[in-house]
This record gives sequence, C-alpha cells and structure tokens, in this order.
Amino acid sequence: MNKTCLLLLLLAPAIPAGADTISPELGGATTVDITGERAFKTIAANAEGMSQARFMFGQQLFTTVWAPAPGSQPTTDGLGPTFNRPACSDCHVNNGRGRPPAQTGDPMESMLVRISVAGAGPHGEPVGVPGYGDQLQDRAVDGVVPEGRALIEWEDVPGEYADGTAYTLRQPTVSFDDLAFGELPPDTLTSARIASPLIGMGLLEAVPVETLEALADPDDANDDGISGKVNRVWDVERQTTSAGRFGWKANQPSLRQQNAGAAIGDMGLTTPVFPDENCLPNQQSCIETSEKVSHPPEIVPAFFVPLTRYTQLVAVPKQRAATDSNVQAGAALFAGIGCSGCHVPTLQTGQHEVSEVANQTFHPFTDLLLHDMGPGLADGRPDFLADGQEWRTAPLWGIGLTKEVAGFEFYLHDGRARSLAEAILWHGGEAEGAKERFRALSEAQRKQLITFLSSL
Ligand code: HEC
Ligand code: HEC
Repeated sequence: MNKTCLLLLLLAPAIPAGADTISPELGGATTVDITGERAFKTIAANAEGMSQARFMFGQQLFTTVWAPAPGSQPTTDGLGPTFNRPACSDCHVNNGRGRPPAQTGDPMESMLVRISVAGAGPHGEPVGVPGYGDQLQDRAVDGVVPEGRALIEWEDVPGEYADGTAYTLRQPTVSFDDLAFGELPPDTLTSARIASPLIGMGLLEAVPVETLEALADPDDANDDGISGKVNRVWDVERQTTSAGRFGWKANQPSLRQQNAGAAIGDMGLTTPVFPDENCLPNQQSCIETSEKVSHPPEIVPAFFVPLTRYTQLVAVPKQRAATDSNVQAGAALFAGIGCSGCHVPTLQTGQHEVSEVANQTFHPFTDLLLHDMGPGLADGRPDFLADGQEWRTAPLWGIGLTKEVAGFEFYLHDGRARSLAEAILWHGGEAEGAKERFRALSEAQRKQLITFLSSL
C-alpha cells in the first residue's frame, strides 16, 4: 500500500464523509420502518388512494402462478410454451434476491442464463443464439421440450487480507446439458444472473437522465481511476435510445420494459410491450402450443399497468442503528476508501408520473452507471454499451436485510459471493483501488465497514 492510501485510511474516520448527512430514511418519503421477512413487500409510506389499489392488485399478479393455456382463469393463462418459472415471485421470493443452485446439477430456481453470439443487432442489442434466442428457457409446458439446462460449477479461489488472514472465494463456470436443438455454437457468450432485489425501483426510474450524465466520467477526466458510463439501450415503446437503468448491466430503460422483458423471457407471457411469443422458427412444438391462447396479449393492459405500478411503489426499508458508533465508523470508511465513488449515497429524483417517487432525496448507494469490474467478475457478454467486464453499480440499500427477506445470503450478479466481504473482495478493474484498501484494513475496521453495510 502506498503512502497516500495509508494517509487516507488514517484520516478516514475523521472525514465527515457525508456519513452524518445521510438520513436513515433511505428511500426519502417512501421509506418504511420495517425489518424481517416482509421488509421488501410493503407499499411506499407516502402512497395513497389509487396507488394503493393498484399496488395491491399488482402484488397479487406478481405472486400469481400462471397456467398454461387454456387455463381455468383465462386472464391468467398463457404460461410458456417455454419458460423459466411460472410466477414473478418464484425468483423474487419476498421481493428479495435469487440464488444459484445449491449443488451442481440442481435446477435453477431463481437464476437464469442469458446467451448470445458475438456482434450486436440493429439497435446495439445482443444477438441471440440461432435456434435458442438470448436466454435459455429450462422449463416448458406439457408437450413442449425445454431448451436445455444450465449447470454451474464452482472453483475455489484462495486469497488473504493484508494482515495475513486467509479467505476462499468461489468462481463459477457455466455449462449446458440436455440441449433440445443441438449444441450451442462454440463462441456462445453466456451470462448467469440471479434475480435482483426489488425495492425502491420507482425512485431509480425517476432520476433525471441529466443526473446520470453528470455522474458519468467515461474518460476518467477527474483521474480517480473510476470512469462510469451510462448504458444506452433500445426503448421499444418510444422507438429510440434511452439510458439503461435496470438489470445487472442496466440493459432496460424503464420498469415497463423491464417487466415486459421478464414476462416474455422468464415466463413466456406476452404483454402490450412484447406482443409476440418467444418461439424461434425451429421450435415447432412451441409455435403450435402458443396458438392455443385466445386473448393476446396474455397479460392484458389492465393487468400490466398495476403490475408495473407495483414494482414502482415497493418501499425502501429504513436504515437501522444509524447512530451506532461502529455503523458511523463504517460509513466513514466506506467513503474514505472510495466505495462511494460508485455506490453514490445520495441522489435526487425529478418529475415522474408516479407522484410518490417524484422530487425525492434518497440514498440508493448507486450511480446506476456501468463500471469495468475487472476480469474476475467478467461474463464476456456485451449488452448494448456494457462490455464483457462492465456491470451496473449494484444499489446497496436494503442489503443488510438480505437474509431476513430471502432466507439466504448470496451477492453479485451470479450469487458467487457468500458474504458481504466476499462481494467486496471480488471487486477489480475500476474498483481495484477500493478493494485493495479494504483488503488492507484491520480486522476491526473491516468489521465496522460490514456493520455499516448491514445497517442499510
Ligand atoms: C426466472 C427467474 C425470474 C423470474 C420468473 C422473474 N425475474 Fe425479474 N429478474 C430476474 C433476474 C435474473 C433479473 C436480473 C436480470 C438481468 O440482469 O438481466 C431480474 C430483474 C428484475 C427487475 C430489475 C431489478 C433491478 O434492480 O434492476 C425487475 C423490476 C424484475 N426483475 C421484475 C420482474 C417481474 C415483474 C417478473 C414477473 C413478470 C419477474 N421479474 C420474473 C429473474 C426473474
Ligand atoms: C468502480 C465502481 C465500484 C466501487 C469503487 C465499489 N463498487 Fe461495489 N459494486 C460495483 C458494481 C458494478 C457491483 C456489481 C458487480 C456484480 O454484480 O458483478 C458492485 C457490487 C457490490 C456489492 C454486492 C451488491 C449485491 O447486490 O450483490 C457490495 C456489497 C459492494 N459492491 C460493496 C462495495 C464496497 C464496500 C466498496 C468499497 C470497498 C465498493 N463496493 C466499491 C461497483 C463498485
């Protein structure tokens, strides 16, 4: 470690670091004082009237197990023909994050694998694999063959802190089995991703694009080793390019499109945004089965609007123990060692059709930008402007409630990290400096930093 870092570390606890300017109300006026299993399931504290009704109905749709067509309830049939899971809440259990399979060979319960071949489509999007498309659907309705199965294998990666304490990380490799339409081309690019936690997303949607552009520093003009760029993705409804905000690579511009993408990609449900079934020309049984649905789109507009409103209005839980001295010391370290260079503590929203999320000051601990995280975290699969090493800064609000909500703890896009410390230790690329400064902390300081994260 060089002298500047040491100095920074020594100074860190004394730097005000914005720690005391962060309100425990992490979601502004939407914030709810709640912990436990239901912590990610409540409506924004400031929601009223029409929003409440839509939220309740949207929540019901989010947990609905969709049936193959024709089903007993025509408004909630149309699952598949191929799909990953039959309910949004199967992957986003309690609106918490997903996990990789416990054992190699176990089916994926709350994780999916994106696939593509090299190159980009007309709007810069990834190019699907011929015969398979851009996501492997590992389940299908009766009479239709699933596309195949993805398997994850783990390899131990040893390391140690500067004080000599040893740790072991685990690195995944993805492979495929039971492929229905022949081998994948040898140059297939893959990206395994766990379901993301779903809180405060209306606020993230309402951050003005100008704010993201102001935070971006693609050429690292301020020379802090951190660049950060806005993903520019295709907005299907507006038929133009928009800033990407959602997904681990910020590849979706809005919650409407994100949810419609989930509906068609993960569940095989058509929507006003994506009205066509997900059957490639070679997938004959898929095509024949999809013709049995009598009411396209399968999620009708009167359902799709409340589903989206639900995702916009999930409350952000309040920070716990904000005045605890270890939490405060950890917050100062967080800023002092450079975590807040990407995990930006405070953002402001502008106007939004959902008035509850408009004009809020809030604390997501993300800049929503793409950062090069180094070869260790790379999936090698570009997604619009995100290259194979770039990921969206993950929001850290609610992260301390992960286990209470989901029943387990797995972090990063593919759930490889089994603890918050492991998540930090995987940081590389633009975050290499911050990671090294974390590795150099004393055990007591590392604990303080983790205590701070756990308070979020
Ligand atoms: C098979 C598992 C699975 C199912 C089913 C599923 N999701 Fe997801 N969800 C994911 C994964 C994985 C991601 C991250 C996607 C990415 O990075 O490309 C995600 C991301 C999201 C996000 C963006 C979160 C963020 O922080 O950017 C939203 C919103 C969302 N899902 C909503 C839904 C809705 C609504 C449904 C039901 C229509 C649904 N999901 C069904 C796995 C799933
Ligand atoms: C250069 C930008 C950058 C810096 C600096 C940075 N991070 Fe991150 N962080 C990210 C990105 C991007 C991800 C998502 C990576 C992925 O999923 O592969 C992430 C993920 C995380 C996660 C896991 C979140 C989740 O939902 O799984 C934690 C925890 C975290 N960072 C904490 C920290 C801490 C603590 C520091 C300071 C030591 C730090 N980060 C510094 C960009 C950064």
